[in-house]
Amino acid sequence: MRSICVLAAGLLVGLASSATAGAAEEAPTFTKDVAPILFDNCVVCHRVGEVAPMALTSYQAVRPWARAIKDKVVSREMPPWHADPEASLDFRNDRRLSQADVDTIAAWVDGGAPEGNPTELPALPPIPTGWQIRDLGEPDAVIRMPVAEEIPASGELPMTNYYIPVPWDEPRYAQALESKPGNRVATHHTVAYIRPGLPPGTRLNEKGLAVRDPSIAVDRNASFEFAQRSVKLTGYAPGKGYKRYPKGAGRVLRPDWYFTLNQHYQPTGKPETDQSELGIWFHDDPIDTDVREIVASDGIAVVEGRELVAEPGQRRPVVPSIPPYADDWKIVAMKVFPEDTTIFSLSPHAHLRGKRFTYTLVRPDGTEQTLLTVPQYDFNWQTFYELTEPMVFPAGSKLVTVGYYDNSVKNRYNPAPDKEVYWAEQSWDEMFNPFFEYGVAAETVTKGSTND
Ligand code: HEC
Repeated sequence: MRSICVLAAGLLVGLASSATAGAAEEAPTFTKDVAPILFDNCVVCHRVGEVAPMALTSYQAVRPWARAIKDKVVSREMPPWHADPEASLDFRNDRRLSQADVDTIAAWVDGGAPEGNPTELPALPPIPTGWQIRDLGEPDAVIRMPVAEEIPASGELPMTNYYIPVPWDEPRYAQALESKPGNRVATHHTVAYIRPGLPPGTRLNEKGLAVRDPSIAVDRNASFEFAQRSVKLTGYAPGKGYKRYPKGAGRVLRPDWYFTLNQHYQPTGKPETDQSELGIWFHDDPIDTDVREIVASDGIAVVEGRELVAEPGQRRPVVPSIPPYADDWKIVAMKVFPEDTTIFSLSPHAHLRGKRFTYTLVRPDGTEQTLLTVPQYDFNWQTFYELTEPMVFPAGSKLVTVGYYDNSVKNRYNPAPDKEVYWAEQSWDEMFNPFFEYGVAAETVTKGSTND
């Protein structure tokens, strides 16, 4: 009896001491374990003058946020990344933390968020100034808003498009493109597009805005077609706002078209100005792949179960408006690939009612593969999901894209749930643009085929 007691007590002591030793060894500290994760993955946005609401650049700054940080990283709301990894391919620009990093942060917070030894603190990454693409040198061309825009101290500002004519007279190929805000604090986003002209019925003013000219008649279809032919090039997001293509592959930038910088500003409490830019690096080597971006549509859409077919000569059917209060309004588009096609990136684009999106590849043998699922679309993050490995769709494959829209009061971004929503350019209108980038043999381009 007695010996058992002794044994049990000894066992307890042994357990207790090994647990303490383990905790002392493993308890993560800020300076040694957590700062490297935050500095690598968070401060690009969470530093003074960047998009995020607070800086995470020192122990003193981070400590009050410890619990919120644990919640946001465990729930995978931070870093922001909107593709569901369980139902998507692997993407080069994925921002998610590794599970080991999430576990380290959680263990640090659970352990009381200690600072640790200050001498172990790593250096902060340098403040990003200039272009994020560094290894290619300065851009070969910089496209800039024609004049600096004045941003008022307060109020809600609509997204605005600035048009700049393409300043060269033969097609050129970009190997890299980067959007750069002139004023990082006040610029919520700058997204660069290239468009086949000015919007129908408009002329350009001195600020680069396309203003309605009543002397030019507008045809609804022409406006719709114009929107469909417009293609997104790249968009700014801290740390990741650029596009690059592999050797031999590039984006063609045609003369006679217009660059468009789509600007969304967030007032900062004091008047600000911004003049955002698009940097372009051309390819020096010969191009064999012309990368294009189009909307995945062959002219058929299934809207709330009803099949609609485009008029002859139109790329997409005229889609009925979204009714007031509809909370899960569904549209499906399809595109068949007549030849083997390499796919580079996927990018669903919608406005304020956009809710969720999926891209599914149906192979000629009928097997299906989900390429991208965005379960909670957020129009603030215009992400290009860039495939880690460009993927070949065999001839006869079909790309099926599905979008859901929420025009109800449940959608906190909805400016007017009681209104029907039309399909057009403004943020209060809607878009279903399941963009993707794909390559075609570059020689077909020189024969004059264009993106339309
Ligand atoms: C690409 C930019 C970006 C990155 C990278 C990023 N954040 Fe954020 N974070 C934001 C923005 C913007 C917000 C404001 C809320 C929103 O828009 O979702 C935010 C909000 C937060 C909040 C909530 C703040 C509040 O007011 O409650 C926490 C906590 C947070 N981030 C932690 C992190 C951590 C930890 C990381 C890195 C592991 C990280 N974030 C990486 C942009 C970013």
